[in-house]
Amino acid sequence: MPSTAISRPPGPKGLPLLGMTFAIRRDALGTLRQVAREYGDIVRLPVAFQDRIFLNRPDLIEQILVVQQAKFHKSELTKRIVGRLLGQGLLISEGEFWRRQRRLAQPAFHRNRIQEYAATMVESVERHTREWGEGDQRDMAREMMALTLDVAVRTLFGTSLPGEAQKVGHSMTFLMRYQLGRQRSPVRIPESWPTPRNKRANREREFLDSLVYHIIEERRAKGDGNHGNDLLSLLVSAMDEDGTQMTPEQLRDETMTLFLAGHETTALMLAWMWYLLGENPAAEARLHQELREVLGGRAPQVADLTKLPFLQAVMNETLRLYPPAYITARTSVEPFALAGYEFEKGTTLLISQWVTHRDPRYFEAPDEFRPERWLNGAASKIPAGAYFPFGDGPRRCIGQGFALLEGALVIATLAERYQFRLVPGHPVEPDPLITLRFRHGLPMTLHARK
Ligand code: HEM
Repeated sequence: MPSTAISRPPGPKGLPLLGMTFAIRRDALGTLRQVAREYGDIVRLPVAFQDRIFLNRPDLIEQILVVQQAKFHKSELTKRIVGRLLGQGLLISEGEFWRRQRRLAQPAFHRNRIQEYAATMVESVERHTREWGEGDQRDMAREMMALTLDVAVRTLFGTSLPGEAQKVGHSMTFLMRYQLGRQRSPVRIPESWPTPRNKRANREREFLDSLVYHIIEERRAKGDGNHGNDLLSLLVSAMDEDGTQMTPEQLRDETMTLFLAGHETTALMLAWMWYLLGENPAAEARLHQELREVLGGRAPQVADLTKLPFLQAVMNETLRLYPPAYITARTSVEPFALAGYEFEKGTTLLISQWVTHRDPRYFEAPDEFRPERWLNGAASKIPAGAYFPFGDGPRRCIGQGFALLEGALVIATLAERYQFRLVPGHPVEPDPLITLRFRHGLPMTLHARK
C-alpha cells in the first residue's frame, strides 16, 4: 500500500498543513492526544510545516525502537534542537562512533557502581533542605532542579561548584528555550547574526564549554583519572580494546550530555511526583506508612529500596502520567515497511510517551493516578511498547538505574519529613519544551511531619 494512503488530519478551518502546525504550537499535548484518538494508530501529521508519521500502537513503536531499529537514526529535528549544545554526545551520535562511546561509558553505569553514589545523593538532599521549615512556601520544580543539579555535579564530576550550579541551570534553560524557539519559528534568523538572543546564546555556550573543559583539565592535571569514582574520572580513563581514549572534545560532549540528560529529567520526575502525591492524600498516606515500617525515621540506604514496592509504584505511575521525555523521534536511513505501508528513506517518525501512556486501551482510567496498577505483578499485562519512559532497544536510557536510585532516595528522605501541598488556586500545566516542564512553576507549602 502506498504510504500516501495514511490519513492526514485536517487542521482547524480546513487549512491542513498550516492549521495543524499552529494547533501543535498552541497545544502540542492536547493536539497529539486528539489526533491519536480521531485518526488512529498511524497518522501522517504535519509538524513544523513538514510531514511526520505519528505512531500510536505499542507493536508499531516496538518495530521502530527495537525490531527494525537499525534502519533509524535520531531525527534531524532532535539533532537540530540539541546538537549545538551536546555535539556528538551519546544522546545523538550514531553508528560505530555511538557504539564505541556507549561501550566506554556503560561500565560507569553498572548497578554496583551507581550504588556507590547513594550516600552522596542522600547527603545532597540533607544539604539542600537544611534551611527548610514548617510553613515554607517553595517552588518545588525549581527546588528539585537545583537538587538534582547538585547531585549531578557531585556524582558525575566529583566536585561541587559553589555558586556555579545555579548558573549552569539558567544557561541550560535559556539554550533549550532558544533552540526550541528557533525550531518552532516559521522565520529562522541565522545564528551568526548578532541579535541580542544570538549573542546571549553564544555567551551561555561559551560559559558551559569553559566550565566543562575546566573540570576535564582539573581531572587530567590531578592525574587521578584512574582513582576517582566519579563518572568523569571513569570516562577520562576509559580505554577501548584498541587502547584509544576519548579526546577532550568527546569528553566535553559526553559530559554535557550526561549533565543535561541526567539532572533535568530526574528533577521533573520528582517535581511531578510531589504534585501528584499532594493531590492524592490516600496514596501519600500509604507511602508514609511504608516508609515508617521500613525506615522508621532513619535515612534510606540502597538495601532498603527493594523493601519499598509502593514507592517504586509511585515513581512508575508518575513517569506514566508525566513522562519527562514525552516524545521521541526517529528518521529512517533506508526504506522500510510498517503496518502494511512502504516508506522512503528520510521519513521522520514520532512516538509519544505522553499519548501512549494515557491510552485507555492499555491503562484503565488512564488520567488517574493509581500507583496500585504497578503492584503484585499487575504490570505484566501491559504490552511492550505501551510504557517506555526511558525509551527502548539499544538507545534506551543509559541513566535509568541512576535516575530511579536518585528518585527513590530523594522521595524516601523528604517524604519521611514533609508533606507538600500545592498553593491553593495555583494553575499546574505541563509545558512541553524538550522535556515536560511546569508552565507556571510548582509553588507548594511544606508541612513538617510529626
Ligand atoms: C527520570 C529520568 C530520566 C528519563 C525519563 C530519561 C529518559 C530517556 C529516554 C526516553 C531516552 C531515550 C531517547 C531516545 O530513544 O531517543 C534517554 C536516553 C539517554 N539518557 Fe536518559 N532519562 C532519565 C535520566 C537520565 C540520567 C540520570 C542520565 C545520566 C546520568 C541519562 C542519560 C541518558 C543518555 C546518555 C541517553 C542516550 C543513550 C544512548 O542513546 O546511548 N538519563 N533517556
